[in-house]
Amino acid sequence: MNFSTKLLHWYKYNHRDLPWRNTQNPYLIWISEIILQQTRVNQGYQYYLRFIEKFPDVQTLAKAEEEDVLKLWQGLGYYSRARNIYYAAQQIISDFNGVFPSDYHDIIKLKGIGNYSASAIASFAFKQCYPVIDGNVLRVISRIYGISTPIDIDKGKKEVLSILKTLIDEQNPDIFNQAIMELGAMVCLPQNPKCETCPLNALCFATSNKIMHDFPVKTKKINQRSRFFYYLVIRLTYNNTEFVYLNKRTNNDIWKNMYDFPLIESEKEMDVAEDISFEIEKILKSNNYNLKKVSRMYRHQLTHQAISAYFFDIKITTPLAETTNFIMVPSSEINIYPIPKLVDNYLKDNCV
Ligand code: ADE
Ligand code: SF4
Repeated sequence: MNFSTKLLHWYKYNHRDLPWRNTQNPYLIWISEIILQQTRVNQGYQYYLRFIEKFPDVQTLAKAEEEDVLKLWQGLGYYSRARNIYYAAQQIISDFNGVFPSDYHDIIKLKGIGNYSASAIASFAFKQCYPVIDGNVLRVISRIYGISTPIDIDKGKKEVLSILKTLIDEQNPDIFNQAIMELGAMVCLPQNPKCETCPLNALCFATSNKIMHDFPVKTKKINQRSRFFYYLVIRLTYNNTEFVYLNKRTNNDIWKNMYDFPLIESEKEMDVAEDISFEIEKILKSNNYNLKKVSRMYRHQLTHQAISAYFFDIKITTPLAETTNFIMVPSSEINIYPIPKLVDNYLKDNCV
């Protein structure tokens, strides 16, 4: 079976039943696609239903007050989308006699409609053969074909487009487009793609080389902030019980009100022998300590932050001075506290 046959077969039995998939009405498809730009299906679903209930067709929308449209949009964000929809409704009345245009080149003249939305509407409503390209599609194609050109520049997008033109099912461009987006949303996930159950795994460059995470290639790492965490796992045996010090994160930062260990943080990698010993002594004050072990590096990726963490296993023999902000808890009770995944990963490896 070829790419398209496999994909459409998979879609037939596995797709989510979503209301905008059961219509060929270009107005309804348009509204759904604008809502689903920059909004997840779960969040957009109710907005879509409320929108089409209040404004069931172009005429109703064009006659409404702009404020009522914005009110319905409240909470969705990117309010220019709502203003553009309203403006485009007037365009359809004045430039297209109130009939939603049926050709890609007319559709794209409407305010707020770019290449993606025009392709989506032209294919879903009118079965015109235009491939859709969104983030999901870029990820799927770049993995299957091992595309090394960054997909956040025009050259990469063009490469994906020319591949899609060879793949798209000309009899069913609508289903092909829905299916490839659905595969990206449900199977070829950014972090943990489900390659074992993916209908295209036999054709996929990335999975056959086990390098799914190397794709899609991007030029810009947007606002990536690197943070280096050096955690002190300070242990103390006292009355035959082992205790460890925890730190409650009260600042306006990640993991607020969760617990981790006393922390030395830096924007750059620090030198263990020099800088860190100095910082450790600042925290432990006059206590004698014994540095038992430094862990491997633990990584944690957040949307705009890349955290690299090391854990220093430290034994002390007398409790820290009362003035510190840390709490002393029995090692066996750490699990009672809310703990970030990064710290939990370390604990799982080390049975603290
Ligand atoms: N995201 C964007 N368009 C979509 C669609 N038609 N179905 C599901 N998710 C989408
Ligand atoms: Fe994506 Fe894996 Fe399928 Fe390749 S095999 S398309 S990486 S889910």
